[in-house]
Amino acid sequence: MLDIAFAKAALPKTGVVVVPLAEGAALSGQAAALDKLLSGGLTAALQAAEFTGKKGQSVNLYGPAGLKRVLAIGLGKTEGFSPRLAEEFGGAVQVALAKEAAAAVLADTLDEKSAAHIGLGARLRGYRFDKYRTTQKDDEKLKLASLKILVADPAKAKAAYAPLQAVAEGVELTRNLVTEPANVLYPEEFADRTEALKKLGVKVEIFTKKDLEKLGFGSLLSVGLGTARESRMVVMQWLGAGGAKDEAKKKKPKAPIAFIGKGVTFDTGGISIKPAAGMEDMKWDMAGAGAVTGLMAALAGRKAKVDAVGLIGLVENMPSGTATRPGDVVTSYSGQTIEILNTDAEGRLVLADVLYYAQQRFSPKYMVDMATLTGAIIVGLGHEYAGLFSNDDELADKLIAAGKATGEGLWRMPLAPLGESYDKNLNSPIADVQNIGGGRAGGSITAAQFLQRFVNGKPWAHLDIAGMAWASKDAPTTPKGATAFGVRLLDRWVADNFEG
Ligand code: BES
Ligand code: MN
Ligand code: ZN
Repeated sequence: MLDIAFAKAALPKTGVVVVPLAEGAALSGQAAALDKLLSGGLTAALQAAEFTGKKGQSVNLYGPAGLKRVLAIGLGKTEGFSPRLAEEFGGAVQVALAKEAAAAVLADTLDEKSAAHIGLGARLRGYRFDKYRTTQKDDEKLKLASLKILVADPAKAKAAYAPLQAVAEGVELTRNLVTEPANVLYPEEFADRTEALKKLGVKVEIFTKKDLEKLGFGSLLSVGLGTARESRMVVMQWLGAGGAKDEAKKKKPKAPIAFIGKGVTFDTGGISIKPAAGMEDMKWDMAGAGAVTGLMAALAGRKAKVDAVGLIGLVENMPSGTATRPGDVVTSYSGQTIEILNTDAEGRLVLADVLYYAQQRFSPKYMVDMATLTGAIIVGLGHEYAGLFSNDDELADKLIAAGKATGEGLWRMPLAPLGESYDKNLNSPIADVQNIGGGRAGGSITAAQFLQRFVNGKPWAHLDIAGMAWASKDAPTTPKGATAFGVRLLDRWVADNFEG
């Protein structure tokens, strides 16, 4: 993993040096000193390359004055420069220097907060999952292991970076979970991996299939009837609201925030089986649970002053002689009976029980669930926004704001009160509710309406992240593959609304 360090600004005599330059700004600070050392060579190179400092522009000088390489990169305009843009800059540095072992960034003309976010962006972009690659050639390997950011006040930058590093570690945990293939990461293995959060001070409880049977989780368990892998639920508690000293003392949090995640470690569709093409994508149908886990790690890692609980439902959806059939009726933990008309609409069956359990046990102030719930949300929103459904306007607005700040966009979708037409489609002729309805039209809304039947009017938001959990293209701070969408967004929502 890329190591980020901060040091007092001084001109490096050797190695690779990065010079961030804002649009139209004259060289100043260490950049000016470097230009002097090179007898105006930096200015000359920038002029020759018609460098203006525009975002993304870059100029390389190899081997000047004993240095290995000098890389000037455009920061864009100074006005409106934000932590998010600093992160994107950090990502650009990581990409440009991936084949160098180490580099120093001359950030003495930037504030320490920006410097910390440059570090975060570089680290997030530098994520790789190379666990199963045994024949990688030397020139395919990621070499950049250490980035030293040179600032006026290193102590201040380090303090600003510490919580960001905890968030980066949460993102990396999520990306690892989401990337793992389903033969390795099945419900039991996923549950076992959450135990790593104990060392951060998170209380972790694992519910086995037997425990869930005793509780009456007939909806969640119906999804796992066709597989040899046992279902699980994990409850993670980070109780940081009273300050570090009080954490251990607290037995039961008072009105915590609850995060709920869909953790289908593989979704074949079950008896309502999916077509073969692209089915491999369904290894990441646990990305909601992965994001909840990484979020809990991030909150605990930075000792967030909040009481938060994370609940994840872990199942594998397989067809077999013991699998749920279309038309089967099950009794959910809430007591409501569900007619399962399509076994591929399984995520909502998992969430129904976990959402209800979260309320019963914790009386949370807010519930936010994350799920790769519907293909229809990808048809509607593509890969730019996750769908946001909420019964609480203020909650929705705050989540959208956190999304803007972190670059993890949310677009609000409609949700109707119980009994209105979207909801009525879910009335079953033989049970309390059926798990699909209304045909393909508005499929993501139908799914959200189903969840709402298990929410009891409590403040709640549902994030349908099916289009955002996995990326087929690189983005500024996210290499293609598992994105960990939701971790940074919800960490930010907590920081901005509950820790003040
Ligand atoms: N896991 C899928 C949704 C999904 C699709 C996520 C594509 C990511 C990419 C979900 O369990 C599912 O199969 N949903 C069905 C619902 C339908 C049967 C009502 C769908 O979207 O087709
Ligand atoms: Mn499905
Ligand atoms: Zn699914």
